[in-house]
Amino acid sequence: MKNTYYHQLLENNKKWVNDKLEKDENYFENLSKGQKPPVLWIGCADSRVPANEITGTHPGELFVHRNIANMVVHTDMNMLSVLDYAVNHLEVNHVIVCGHYGCGGVQAAMQNKSLGLINKWVRNIKEVYKENKTELNKIEDQKKRFDRLVELNVKAQVYDLAKTSIVQQAWKNGRELEVHGWVYDLKDGIIDDLKVSMDSAQHLDEVFRLDLD
Ligand code: CO
Repeated sequence: MKNTYYHQLLENNKKWVNDKLEKDENYFENLSKGQKPPVLWIGCADSRVPANEITGTHPGELFVHRNIANMVVHTDMNMLSVLDYAVNHLEVNHVIVCGHYGCGGVQAAMQNKSLGLINKWVRNIKEVYKENKTELNKIEDQKKRFDRLVELNVKAQVYDLAKTSIVQQAWKNGRELEVHGWVYDLKDGIIDDLKVSMDSAQHLDEVFRLDLD
């Protein structure tokens, strides 16, 4: 087989292993003992938003779940399993939903084009658009409206986290657990805190508050 980009990735891995071992010969041995990450990161699958790299964190610091447009869909067993494991077993103290401007998933939700299977996923973002239609339609500049939907989508996902029994039970048990919403800007690399953090169900509409033991 000819040398392709694919082979290069394996070569990069060997170099990375050597670099790590040069600095600390026990690096992998120590990491393999277990993980205790303080943060669950829910981000977009976009290749330009690598969770560890943009936050200056290392292996072992972030438990990561990524999907198209950083969604918290209440029927998504993958997301729910990750959330349950992170909150109840790893006992993370923070769950961060990080969206990004220029998100293709959010852009798709602003259009009426049919995308096949992806329609089903994008529909969840369309619901956020509909919820905020009055505000969004007042923004004439298409680019600004797109940016605002990215922010509103993150905010909605933070609320959707708070609506889960997993998060509400942790709060009920007095656990220190905060949910946060961030937006990453592809153009300058800066992360903006949307200041929609929650550490209890008190800001949640009573319709979504659950009676838990
Ligand atoms: Co995206």
